Amino acid sequence: MNLYDRIPNNVNLAQDRKLQRALEKWLPNYLDWWREMGPEGFQEKDVWLRTAVDVGSEGWAHFDYVKMPDYRWGIFLEPQQPNATVGFGDNYGQPVYQEVPGEFRNALRRIIVTQGDTEPASVEQQRQLGRTCPSLYDLRNLFQVNVEEGRHLWAMVYLLHGYFGRDGRDEADALLERRSGNADKPRILEAFNQPCDDWLNFFAFTMFTDRDGKYQLSALAESGFEPLARTCKFMLTEEAHHMFVGDTGLGRVVKRTAQLMKEGDPRNLGGIPLEIIQKYINFWFSYSLDLFGGEISSNSADFFAAGLKGRYKEQEQYRDHTATNDVFTLPVVEDGGLRPREVPLRNALNEVLRQEYIKDCEKGLARWNKVLADEGSSERLNLPNSRFHRHVGEYAGHTFDIAGNLISDQEFESRRNEWLPTMEDREYVRSLMHPVTEVGKIANWIAPPASGIKGKPFDFEYVRL
Ligand SMILES: [Fe+2]
Ligand SMILES: [Fe+2]
Repeated sequence: MNLYDRIPNNVNLAQDRKLQRALEKWLPNYLDWWREMGPEGFQEKDVWLRTAVDVGSEGWAHFDYVKMPDYRWGIFLEPQQPNATVGFGDNYGQPVYQEVPGEFRNALRRIIVTQGDTEPASVEQQRQLGRTCPSLYDLRNLFQVNVEEGRHLWAMVYLLHGYFGRDGRDEADALLERRSGNADKPRILEAFNQPCDDWLNFFAFTMFTDRDGKYQLSALAESGFEPLARTCKFMLTEEAHHMFVGDTGLGRVVKRTAQLMKEGDPRNLGGIPLEIIQKYINFWFSYSLDLFGGEISSNSADFFAAGLKGRYKEQEQYRDHTATNDVFTLPVVEDGGLRPREVPLRNALNEVLRQEYIKDCEKGLARWNKVLADEGSSERLNLPNSRFHRHVGEYAGHTFDIAGNLISDQEFESRRNEWLPTMEDREYVRSLMHPVTEVGKIANWIAPPASGIKGKPFDFEYVRL
């Protein structure tokens, strides 16, 4: 097999012997990890997958039956822009960096490792889901997400190998050694150690946690470190499908629940009650908010100043790309209550990015509420306040109700079961998870999709079992 078939790429790997050797050494370890931690029970099945074979619109939308271990995990960067300049911060307007700026080497490696760690983590979290798929269509979507998260790991490993030398290679190895939810060697971020063992979790995860990925990647796609920016831009094209899976998946669960509600209590009819869906939303939304980091952060200021991590749509949305003159006001806990505090804008950029994310999530909630309205239901789903159930940042260590009011620990504990999934809720959802693998059939707790994938009907054989 030639190099391009083993590692499809547009980074001229054939010319870079050193990088080529490093990646070829890493490849068998990656495949071992995939076989051990990738989707269980389906490795030898033909799955109708989209494979990125090039960055052109035809190239990355190539569909065919593939066995997952034969998926061609490639390295693709968005094409280079001639004369690109740093788009924000203290070096605004200067030529982009082709190498890692020395003083930010460690910080940048940490950003790349943290992003890279989430990719295999989610594959590990989702590895049992194939066994309880609600349809072949959903099974295929799960595997599409999984192989693309694998490719995202490749994208980050390329940067580590290509730009960080020895310690980059060590970090690339460690990415294959940590395990989601493992007490001794957990994944770096907490949302990626939470179990994702039923399909309601999966849809909430791809809706809320993959969407965090979209915002982190968008901020890094603005980066003045050009190889990172170009890598992230291409990853975003794949990420869109992951969020589609979560958004429409939850929408279909909501639709089915609303239909069953017209006949009686969904719980007696094999559906998922709306209050359980709401609790899963509360759980994954709050954990995903933590992924943006502290509300007040000197790191965010340093990264922005250095031109490494920008704001969402920095070029389109903002005129002042230095962000030196503005302040940001946010409520913080002081003397037993919430009081407004002003901080320099650059120190609040994690929160600025989080608010963009929340706006995007609200659109998803509006779509699901429209589904409820269309089915004649007057019930509505909501996002909890962003202070609710936080483990990172200003609000960690305090307790808030679902509306964001500061409450005592005891009150939170006494109401926890109203807001977050209980053991019984999780068991109930799991009790509904039976595989449906007949072509064109679907589980009772979810509505079929409005259309199939890439022009194929819902009753297409998306996975050959
Ligand atoms: Fe990803
Ligand atoms: Fe993703």
